[in-house]
Amino acid sequence: MKRFEDVKPQEAQDLYYPAMCKVTQAKQITDMEKWYELEMPAGQDLGHSPGQFVEVSVFGVGEAPISVSSSPSKKGRFELCIRQVGNLTNVLKSYDVGDLVGIRGPYGKGYPIEQFLGKDILIIAGGIGLVPLRSLINYVLDNRKDFGRLIILYGAKTPAELLFKEEMANWTARDDVEFHVTVDQGDETWTGNTGVITTLIPGLELNLNTTIAAITGPPIMYKFVIMSLKSKQMADDHIYVSLERRMKCGVGKCGHCQINGVYCCQDGPVFNYADIKPLEEAL
Ligand SMILES: Cc1cc2nc3c(=O)[nH]c(=O)nc-3n(C[C@H](O)[C@H](O)[C@H](O)COP(=O)(O)OP(=O)(O)OC[C@H]3O[C@@H](n4cnc5c(N)ncnc54)[C@H](O)[C@@H]3O)c2cc1C
Ligand code: FES
Repeated sequence: MKRFEDVKPQEAQDLYYPAMCKVTQAKQITDMEKWYELEMPAGQDLGHSPGQFVEVSVFGVGEAPISVSSSPSKKGRFELCIRQVGNLTNVLKSYDVGDLVGIRGPYGKGYPIEQFLGKDILIIAGGIGLVPLRSLINYVLDNRKDFGRLIILYGAKTPAELLFKEEMANWTARDDVEFHVTVDQGDETWTGNTGVITTLIPGLELNLNTTIAAITGPPIMYKFVIMSLKSKQMADDHIYVSLERRMKCGVGKCGHCQINGVYCCQDGPVFNYADIKPLEEAL
């Protein structure tokens, strides 16, 4: 990613000017979340890596950081999945094919993919945390030979809140993906696991030397998932977390996302747990 200091004067304004991207597909996938496929103005690739985010803007309303949910191996178009929670995201609910959305980025540090090559990848996603991790999952699936085991643990509050159900069916059917899903509270249709996501961890057999864990979910989840991984003796530097902080500029200028000396928008949102463990406010 380009840091602000590295931008030449004639490029400086580009950092704050959104590119107008066209919605090419859109679908409300749960009561609260809508999935969008977008195309850059000249059809070019967004140029992101898994774990990075964009600033999405609607003129007159505002901006919000949103993770890129598609893999960079998908060419020409990229995907977002947005939960309707406030001013901007509720306006975006009405956006459909052909509408234009402002996009700045991609920003931040994603997963260090080159360090993941040849490793077993353990994905632990809670709720909407599956959105950024789906970019990593699809990258691994598109480059399957370059990685070891792909283990996906996914938890949601209820069956109705599970995202990307068709892809979940595909992960279940594949013999090169170990997929485990749980919901906090089942309903009459649910025949799978019930319980919080940490209930899936004790049964896992992991090679601690070769396994990398990538965790994204609500703040409360990190503490208990990390405790569970540590009880399996996983090393701190084999664990990656993605931190959500309130962001404004997305490029290290406004300080909204700062935790002590760390800027979540530039130094993260993906962090190695060993690096942020000493920061008390981080998790
Ligand atoms: C790196 C990153 C990636 C993200 N990726 C995604 C994603 O892929 N999909 C997704 O749906 N969301 C994602 N988010 C979260 C998303 O950016 C927020 O939900 C965003 O604030 C929504 O904007 P809004 O204008 O609709 O909501 P807002 O109107 O800003 O309100 C959002 C919520 O925050 C509360 N709120 C508003 N202002 C404040 C304040 N000053 N202090 C405390 N609470 C306040 C509101 O009551 C509401 O509950 C991501 C956030 C980060 C930092
Ligand atoms: S969002 Fe402005 S400094 Fe990080």
